Amino acid sequence: MKNLLSMKDIKVNEIEMILTRALEFQQNSPHQLKKQMTVANLFFEPSTRTKMSFEMAERKLGLHVLPFDAGTSSTTKGETLYDTVKTLESIGVDAVVIRHEQNGFYEELMSGLNIAIINGGDGSGQHPSQSLLDLYTIKQEFGKFEGLEVTIVGDIAHSRVAKSNAQALSNLGAHVTFLCPKEWQGEFESTSSWEDVLPTADVVMLLRVQHERHAKENELPNQLYHEKFGLTKARYDQLKSTAIILHPAPVNRDVEIASDLVESEKSRIFKQMQNGVFVRMAILESVLKERF
Ligand code: CP
Repeated sequence: MKNLLSMKDIKVNEIEMILTRALEFQQNSPHQLKKQMTVANLFFEPSTRTKMSFEMAERKLGLHVLPFDAGTSSTTKGETLYDTVKTLESIGVDAVVIRHEQNGFYEELMSGLNIAIINGGDGSGQHPSQSLLDLYTIKQEFGKFEGLEVTIVGDIAHSRVAKSNAQALSNLGAHVTFLCPKEWQGEFESTSSWEDVLPTADVVMLLRVQHERHAKENELPNQLYHEKFGLTKARYDQLKSTAIILHPAPVNRDVEIASDLVESEKSRIFKQMQNGVFVRMAILESVLKERF
């Protein structure tokens, strides 16, 4: 894999390779990088998990990590993303992880550059490393994807996580349904009734309500959202005994999920974060090995 840009581009066998390698990293397998390499993390939108998790993965792989602060970089003087990345390539950086508010920011980086690009989230487009860690967490639990019922709940239209996972899970043989307010269903058919999904769901994937991407007229008050679409204790109690709950986080407590359920028995929310380090090690090793 030369770059990781979108789950639309990644083949099923490449997904399986990343998940297998992530498991090996979890079991303390050594990395296969034969020379010292350098990476930088360019985050133009806020992040805690993705940025810190990539940095942890980079350190565990023994990579040099150049610090980059978008707020004090020359992008604030109007330098383009292409020129910023070309500059990093020129000084010897091998790979960049980029989070950017512009959907498909990576299109302008696809020619003229010889540096690996990893998409750390593009606007409401794609979030492939999150999707891969979600897949890893599901496989860890069930050992397969075929035949699983996955319900994605919430702000589908604005969610790069929903789009990345819907594509990948369907390709892997899971059945994906969507539960959300009609105005947030985007390109997908959805239900607005928990009763349609509670008895059958194996995985309930909650999404953060992305207030920052909403027009004022599409806002739902938090309490109303929680009553209609949030995972309440009453709904939790109707889930199958084997069902699990995922959320990419950050979580709006008592909006998408009752605060008491964030660390409940069925929740894998912090397990997802733990798994993210191994999955990102596998992603980084895969793109960097292409450069030997
Ligand atoms: N899940 C996720 O992308 O979290 P951050 O925005 O904190 O990176």
